[in-house]
Amino acid sequence: MTNYRVLLLGSGGREHAMAWKIAKSPLLEELYIAPGNPGTTSLGINVELDISDFNQISLFVEKELINLIVVGPEQPLVDGIADFFNQKNIPVFGPGQRAAMLEGSKEFAKDFMQKHAIPTARHSTFSSDQFDDALSYIQSEGKYPVVLKADGLAGGKGVFICESEEEVIERLKLLKNDFSLQEAASKLVIEEFMEGEEASVFVISDGNSFQVIHNAQDHKRIGEGDTGLNTGGMGAYSPAPIITKSLMKRVEDEIIAPTIKGMKDEGSPYQGILYVGLMINESGPKVVEYNCRFGDPECQVILPSLKSDLLKLIVVATEGNLDQEKIELDDRYQCCVVMASDGYPVSYDKGMEITGIDTIDPEAIVFHAGTVLKNEKLVTNGGRVLSVVGNGDTLEAAIDHAYANVDKISFSNSYIRKDIGHKGLKKVR
Ligand code: AMP
Ligand code: GLY
Repeated sequence: MTNYRVLLLGSGGREHAMAWKIAKSPLLEELYIAPGNPGTTSLGINVELDISDFNQISLFVEKELINLIVVGPEQPLVDGIADFFNQKNIPVFGPGQRAAMLEGSKEFAKDFMQKHAIPTARHSTFSSDQFDDALSYIQSEGKYPVVLKADGLAGGKGVFICESEEEVIERLKLLKNDFSLQEAASKLVIEEFMEGEEASVFVISDGNSFQVIHNAQDHKRIGEGDTGLNTGGMGAYSPAPIITKSLMKRVEDEIIAPTIKGMKDEGSPYQGILYVGLMINESGPKVVEYNCRFGDPECQVILPSLKSDLLKLIVVATEGNLDQEKIELDDRYQCCVVMASDGYPVSYDKGMEITGIDTIDPEAIVFHAGTVLKNEKLVTNGGRVLSVVGNGDTLEAAIDHAYANVDKISFSNSYIRKDIGHKGLKKVR
């Protein structure tokens, strides 16, 4: 294998974790992160690029002789970055535009699952001028709660769980008038509500074959006990005790294998990371959503347990040779607690000085997200500020380790959920 000059796109905790892992690879010659964050400066070179501007990225790629692009977030993939650079013979780790529609369009994902008999909630799709038909459909089904989803990317803000007909009517009215969601909600997917517990499985694929990297559970709501507004994710732990060996076998056979084969058969082979969001109940696993990337903060708990060389896995996946590599994991538990700015996900102050990161236990890891260096001081610069990751031989030990290190870090107006991992403990006790 050659030496790799890698450009990693993104700036969050997920990308800091990816940079941290890629930087350990003997195959790496140089790592650039665009735009990166203060945490990635010790692992590579941060570059100020607009990751939605493919021509700007292309000039940088030519100048620095980049021979591999790794994409962290979904937007550039949904916008076709892989196709753009593949035409220039620059390998991109991540799916092409059509394959990325598994995340970019709920309608596409649902129709795909229906076509390939992949278990998921029943659904029907309506365009924005058919909202009356959508209401009639919901009334005829007569089942509440019911789930309304904007078709396109909406940064976690496009899913509404309505408990009654009145709520549905109110929500449809709001959606008609919500300009921020109008593009994403030009189509609306109406879905049956699934009971159960959520968990995610992370898969790497070269388009032909796949391997499961690991599984995790995150905490999407802002409040303890999974209450309050949805966020990007307030914490995560891995592995997820609910995903037993036999359940994992079912997920592979009934969901992952037909997904990879289905995309290949449709002429859009899926290369990259596939995030399969699952709902698990007595009747087995069903797909809640697909994402075309690692989760954030799930990535921060998965990569510390990955013993294999991530860069090597990425390289063989882009070359179509994934079957030559094996995924090796250690058997530790990892727990990530997100330190956020109070007020997130609505509004919050920035610019608070962060102290104590240099005092954490060497076995714990802090990944940056919303931070910036100002006058040589590290200050807050976003809603999710830091991901603090602890580990242990048991989930309980990993949780304790994470919180013990959170306690060593401070900034005014910090907010954490104090119950990260607790729902997993209920399963192992
Ligand atoms: P999505 O963006 O499709 O993952 O939806 C965001 C969140 O809404 C999921 O993580 C679930 O907690 C919830 N959700 C979405 N669809 C369903 C469903 N059909 N049944 C129950 N909960 C759902
Ligand atoms: N943590 C949820 C996500 O990355 O979509």
